[in-house]
Amino acid sequence: MNKIVWFKTGVHEEEATAIREALLQGRVSMGAITEDFEARLAQRLGVPYCLVTPSGSVALFIAIKALGIGAGDEVIVPNRGWVAAAHAVMLAGAKVVLAEVRRDIPNIDVADVRRKISSRTKAVIPLHLNGRSCDMPALLALARERKIAVIEDACQALLSRNADSFIGTQGELGCFSLGMAKLVATGQGGFVVTRDEGLYRQLKLIRNHGVKDNFTDAWYQWGFNFKFTDIQASMGIVQLERAAQRIEHLKAVYTMYDQALAGMKKIAMIPVKNDQGEVPLYIEALTEDRDELIKYFTGLGIQTRPATPDLDPTIYFEGQGSFENSRKFFTQGIYLPGGPEQPLENVQTVISALKSYLL
Ligand SMILES: Cc1ncc(COP(=O)(O)O)c(C=O)c1O
Repeated sequence: MNKIVWFKTGVHEEEATAIREALLQGRVSMGAITEDFEARLAQRLGVPYCLVTPSGSVALFIAIKALGIGAGDEVIVPNRGWVAAAHAVMLAGAKVVLAEVRRDIPNIDVADVRRKISSRTKAVIPLHLNGRSCDMPALLALARERKIAVIEDACQALLSRNADSFIGTQGELGCFSLGMAKLVATGQGGFVVTRDEGLYRQLKLIRNHGVKDNFTDAWYQWGFNFKFTDIQASMGIVQLERAAQRIEHLKAVYTMYDQALAGMKKIAMIPVKNDQGEVPLYIEALTEDRDELIKYFTGLGIQTRPATPDLDPTIYFEGQGSFENSRKFFTQGIYLPGGPEQPLENVQTVISALKSYLL
């Protein structure tokens, strides 16, 4: 049993009350509470349109479909992050083209995106890993120049900001996750935001089998059942109200680690611009001794995780070149215990254990 888990979040009495009330009011499937949740998310992010979905993966998939991307098209995705964007591209029948990440942070390298654009490229999916903003001014300029769409994978970046605005609100479409290891959770869940009314209408049709309302029997276009539930939305509204407080805690956790690791030689934080509005959802560090360190922590009842794999060694993505920058983050990356409800005493315990191991 781990005494300290890698990501500590929480669901409380307020969520239980909200869910109970929704159930007792007969608000079970997708209805008024879902609409309220969507309106609150849109308002919080400063966008006109938001559509909730069963997961962040579905959010990415319907964003791709709303742009009409399919067989014969190519979409550029970063070689690091989480595989959902690439799998969503495949599910839409398009080809995944991998781009390398930067040397300093594991976010997409815009220069490599430029090299990977072909006449078939329809979109690029910048993935804002752990609240870190991709270089959006450069990427948006490139996308405009080459007439391709930008779908932001902001699944790890809810309420994270760059110099211009909230991450996920700058491309044609922005996709978010409401999974349990996220800032705001609904069990499973996700959402898409956009400023484009036409795309929003498409997203709505795709979410519900192409029907304009439930009482018409016409299918205007292809769609599926990607609807949400008011039960989940009622939980999401409570969690969203807690987001500001959670962000403060995540920043405090990050700062503790950042200060402690600054004095250590064999481990370094993968930086997040904590003081410039980026939200450090996770604590990611690099160490050459990664696998031994994980074993050491396991022995102490402290749960850590290796960084998620690169995409390019995967059998169905292989043969797309070499990705040296990615490899360093993959082989040396470790998640240290954090999360919006991780007690600061636990963080201190982890730091003390790190000191005894590394110093
Ligand atoms: C970067 C990124 N993209 C997409 C997803 C997919 O979201 P979901 O798990 O809600 O489908 C995740 C989930 O962890 C993620 O971290």
